[in-house]
Amino acid sequence: MPGSPVIPAKPVTRISGFQPLRPLRTALSYLLAQPSKSARIGFVFCAIVQALPLHADTDPSTGLVIAPGYEQVKAQCTACHSGRLVAQNRADRDGWLQMIRWMQDTQNLWPLGEAEPVILNYLAENYGPLPRGRRAPLDVSFE
Ligand code: HEC
Repeated sequence: MPGSPVIPAKPVTRISGFQPLRPLRTALSYLLAQPSKSARIGFVFCAIVQALPLHADTDPSTGLVIAPGYEQVKAQCTACHSGRLVAQNRADRDGWLQMIRWMQDTQNLWPLGEAEPVILNYLAENYGPLPRGRRAPLDVSFE
């Protein structure tokens, strides 16, 4: 139709390249544009929490947590099997001692000498029992 207004074509937004931060930026600008102060405070709080390290440092070559005693454990406990076999187990100090005794009795593990208490501390500290998923059973007594 003559005289009808020309509708300009929508400009094509070109998304060039990989933009991994794009959704983050969108969320950020959305949240910061919120009039609510508590929303902004909440966002800043979440950002800080997310920035905190969730996991202790792990040595990628052994899979073991880097903490006091790590060097001794790496030296004594990764000769026969992977450190991952160590890291995937959990026990209290006594349980770890029993595993070490078992390897000494049956698998030719040598005496650990002065390193033993250091290793036990490391294992109990970093690979202690996980908190139980359930509450403890009720202490019920019937009269
Ligand atoms: C002399 C060799 C040797 C050394 C050194 C050694 N282990 Fe082992 N360990 C073994 C053998 C063999 C097994 C059994 C592997 C299997 O079942 O495949 C084993 C198994 C284990 C397991 C698995 C136990 C289970 O119940 O599945 C753990 C945990 C472990 N070792 C921890 C350690 C720790 C901690 C040290 C260092 C103090 C250590 N090992 C040093 C030989 C060794």
